[in-house]
This record gives sequence, C-alpha cells and structure tokens, in this order.
Amino acid sequence: MTDAERLTLAVEIAREAGEMIREARERQTFGHRYKQGRELVTDVDVAVDTHIGKRLEAAFPEEARLSEELAPEREVLGGETPLWVVDPVDGTVNFAHGLHHVAVSIAWAVAGRVRIGVVHAPFLGETFTALTGQGAQRNGQPIQASRIGNLERSLVGTGFPYRRDSRPPLMRRLTAVLERCQDVRRNGSAALDLCDVACGRLDAYYESVSPWDFAAGWLIAREAGALTGHLYPCPAGFPEDLFGENLLVTSPGIHRELGELLRRADAGERTAW
Ligand code: IPD
Ligand code: CA
Ligand code: CA
Repeated sequence: MTDAERLTLAVEIAREAGEMIREARERQTFGHRYKQGRELVTDVDVAVDTHIGKRLEAAFPEEARLSEELAPEREVLGGETPLWVVDPVDGTVNFAHGLHHVAVSIAWAVAGRVRIGVVHAPFLGETFTALTGQGAQRNGQPIQASRIGNLERSLVGTGFPYRRDSRPPLMRRLTAVLERCQDVRRNGSAALDLCDVACGRLDAYYESVSPWDFAAGWLIAREAGALTGHLYPCPAGFPEDLFGENLLVTSPGIHRELGELLRRADAGERTAW
C-alpha cells in the first residue's frame, strides 16, 4: 500500500472515530474515572481506541501500535517495525466539559520518522493531514505556518501536565512568554495546537507531552513550514519525531528567539524587556 493510500485509510478511520465522539456527546451517557487519581478518562476514550485498534489491526496486522488507552507501553518506540501512534481523544477534559477543542490523532512512523499524520476535530469540522515531503492540508486545502518575524506580535499556545506538582516550574516560562509575546492560549488539545501553528492561527507552541499527543500534529506543522524542534537535546538514539519532552514548534522567524527565552526562563534568568 502506498503512503497516500495509507493516509486515505487513516482519514477514514479518524472520521469514524470522530462520529463516535459526536454521538457520545449527544447521548451524554458515558462514564468516567481518573487514572492515577488525576487524569480523566471516559468510556468514549476507551471505545474509540478499541475501534481504531481493530481497524488498524485488520488492515496492518504486522505493524506495531502505541495508543494512549489500550497500548501505552513505550518499548515499541525504539523498534524497527512500522508504528501507528494513536490518541483516540485528544482533549478529553474539553470533551467531558462540552468544549469543542477535541481531536482524534493518528500518526504512522517508520524507523522513528513520522511519515503520515491525521488530526480530525469532529466538533470543528476540520481534518488536518500531512505526508512527509508533500505539504500539509486542512480539509483538503494546502496550509502554511505564519511568517511572523518578531516575538512581540506572536500568539503562543501551550499546555500543562495533569500532575499539579509538575506545574509550578512551568510558571517561569509562562511569565516570560506573557511579558514578551502578544499573548498565550491554552486550548486543551496538543494535537490541535500543533495544527493551529500549521495553519498560522498560532505562531508557536511549546509543551512536554506524550508521543500520541503530538506525533501527527508535529508532522502537519513541519509540512506546513513550521520549525519543529526541542528546547534541549533529545536522548542519544531516541527518535526525535517521537520524543515529546520540551517541544518547541514555531513559525521559522521566531524559533531561535523563543527557544532562548524559554531556556533562560528555565534557568531562572529574568530579562529586562
Ligand atoms: C492532553 C491534551 C492537552 C495537553 C495534555 C495532554 P488528553 O491530552 O493534549 O492539551 O496539555 O498534556 O495530556 O489527555 O486530552 O488526551
Ligand atoms: Ca492527548
Ligand atoms: Ca487522549
């Protein structure tokens, strides 16, 4: 099967998943619980993950899968087998609260390089796609990252971990960005934050997340002309496209400057603006 055919199938599966999510919201009967006492998971997350897993297994029985609810074991990340990386519901808290920033995220990687990305947002009516080397699209139309050249006018997306005790160190970054940039958005879906960078709605995004949160959106942003990178070097031998710590994805003109700002904030340095 060609990469383009795989992408078509991945879009079909993501849209089926999106329909499940829409129907579940209409019915409003799903249960929920908290993983490790703090991370919300609904019956819908599990049902959608099951559906996507079955569809991928039927089409690609030889290939590996990493998915947030049903196959989260990360040993597959370093392997040679082609790998599907799935977040069935990115934006679970939004989903449970009736907000619209919710997405299905499906990526396909070979030897650690993401080659296909699909992010489908059922409540927004948007499907973002990318194939390596062939650009990125929103609902079938080409998209481009912004061309902003200064931090002062840039709108920056980010997010925060579920663990409350991991949040305070991130306040230094937040303060630096609020003091220097136009403003910050916390929309609650890393996959959609990356797609918003891809189509120029946001100028930058930084966060630490899991592979399923970002693998597809990362390729979409890169194919749309954004610079994808990390604030600090990735561990030797670990595939960069699947390493979710300290992501920095921006329009090309502000990458270096925003990276410096965030690293200085981490180091506790304050700059007089
Ligand atoms: C979360 C979202 C959120 C990000 C969190 C993720 P989930 O994914 O992507 O924007 O800030 O770190 O865990 O739990 O809704 O799939
Ligand atoms: Ca997620
Ligand atoms: Ca999820």
